[in-house]
Amino acid sequence: MITDEQFIINGLAGKKTLEGKINTPGAKNAVLKVLAASILFSDEVTISNVPDIEDVARMLELLEDLGVVVEKQDSKTYRLITSEILTHEISTEISKHLRASIVLTGPLLGRLGKVTFPHPGGCVIGKRPIDFFIEGFKILGADIKDTGSGYEIKVKKNLKGNTIFFKNASVTATENFMMAGVLAEGQTIIKNAAMEPEIVSLGEFLNECGAQITGLGTPEITITGGSLLSGKDKIYHTMPDRIAAGSFVILGALAGKKLEVTNCEPKHLESLLYSLSSAGVKMEIKKDSIIVYGRDSKLTAFDIKTHEYPGFPTDLQAPLAVLLTQSDGQSFLFETIFEGRLNYLETLGRMEADVKIIDAHRALINGPKSLKGREMESPDLRAGLAYVIAAIIASGVSTIHNVYYIDRGYEHIDKSLRAIGVDIKRV
Ligand code: EPZ
Repeated sequence: MITDEQFIINGLAGKKTLEGKINTPGAKNAVLKVLAASILFSDEVTISNVPDIEDVARMLELLEDLGVVVEKQDSKTYRLITSEILTHEISTEISKHLRASIVLTGPLLGRLGKVTFPHPGGCVIGKRPIDFFIEGFKILGADIKDTGSGYEIKVKKNLKGNTIFFKNASVTATENFMMAGVLAEGQTIIKNAAMEPEIVSLGEFLNECGAQITGLGTPEITITGGSLLSGKDKIYHTMPDRIAAGSFVILGALAGKKLEVTNCEPKHLESLLYSLSSAGVKMEIKKDSIIVYGRDSKLTAFDIKTHEYPGFPTDLQAPLAVLLTQSDGQSFLFETIFEGRLNYLETLGRMEADVKIIDAHRALINGPKSLKGREMESPDLRAGLAYVIAAIIASGVSTIHNVYYIDRGYEHIDKSLRAIGVDIKRV
C-alpha cells in the first residue's frame, strides 16, 4: 500500500567516494510481462530472478484475483499454476496503480474470449492512451464496449490472426498483441513493432514453451497462433534490469571512486555507454558487469534525444539529466516519447541546477553547477531515482517523499546504496 515513507540522504557535496559492488536486479519491464503471459499456459510456469518490487507484488495480486495459484519457491522464484482461470475481469483497484496490467488483456481475451478492464491510470509522465490496444483488438475480430468505467471486449469464437500496424512503436502494445497472437487463429503480423530486449526475452521464452514467433527484435513480428502453451519443467530467468544498471552507472560516474555494477547486460546499454564514454566517463566494460571510475572521469556536456530501442531509453532520461547538470557546457535534452516527462527538472532547478524547460519535450541544461539538498516528492519511479542521485551528489541533507514510487521499480534501493557508502535512511 502507498505509505508516506521517506528517504533522508546526507549528500557528498561533490566528493567521489562511493565504492564496491551494486547488483543489477531482474528487469521490472520483463518480469511483469512474463507474469502476465502465464495466462497463456494450460498448466504452469516458473519464473526466477524475480525482483522484490512493488509492481511485481501488484501483478501477483492481479493474477491471484484472476484465479492463478501463486507458489513462492524462494525469495526470487515463483511457480504459477494456471490450469484454471476463473474470471475475465481485471481488478480495477489493483490495475489502476499498474500500467503493465494492460498486457493482461491480450492473453485473457485469447484464452477466455472475453475481458473487462478499467481505463488505465495515467501518471505524471503523460496521458498513457490505449488506442493502439482498442484498434488492435478490433483488427483481430473483437467487439469493444466502453462501459464508461472501462472496456468490455468479446470475441464470438476466437481471435482471428491479422496484420496490425502501430503508428508508433509501443512496447506494451507490441507485447500484448504478440501474446494475443499466440492464441489467435492463423497468423498475426505486427508492423512497426517495438524492439526492446524485454520483448525479445519474453518472445524467446514463449517459443521455448510452444509458441511460434519470428522477427523478435525487428520492426516486424509474426506469430502463428495455435493452442495454450505448456511451462512444465521450464524456468524463465528474468533478464537484468538495464534501466537500474544504467542508473547505477550514472551514479558511479557522478559520485564513484570505483563502482562495479554487477550481473548486468552491457549490450543492452550501448546507447548510454556510448554517450557516457564520449563525455569522458572512464569505464571498464566486462561480460556481465561495468566498472565506473568516477574520479578519473571528466564530464563534458552532450545532447540527448530519447528514442525507441536501441536509441537512448526514455526511462534513463531523468537520471542522465542529473549528470548533465554536472557536465561542462550546455546540453540539449529532447524527450520524444512522452509529453509529461520533464517536470522533475523544476525540482532540480530548486536544488540550484541551471535548467530551462523549453516545452513539453525539450529542455536546456548548463553545467557544472553544484546542487543543494532539499525536500522533494518523487512524481514517478524514474524521476524518483533521479532525485536520489541528485541528493547523493548535493551538499546538505535531502528528504525524498513518496518512496513507494521508487520501490515500484528499484529493489531494496536504500540497502544497496548504503552498501556502497551512501548515507541514506528510510523513515
Ligand atoms: C513501456 O511503457 C514501459 N512500461 C515504460 O516504462 C517505458 O517508458 C515505455 O515503454 C517506453 O520505453 C512498461 O513496460 C510497463 P509505449 P508503454 O506504449 O508501453 C504512445 C517505467 O518507468 N501510445 O512504448 O506504456 C504513448 O503515449 C515505465 O518502467 C499511444 O499513443 O509505452 C507514448 O507516447 C515508464 N497509444 C508512445 O506510444 C497506445 O495505445 C510509446 O509508449 C499506447 C502507446
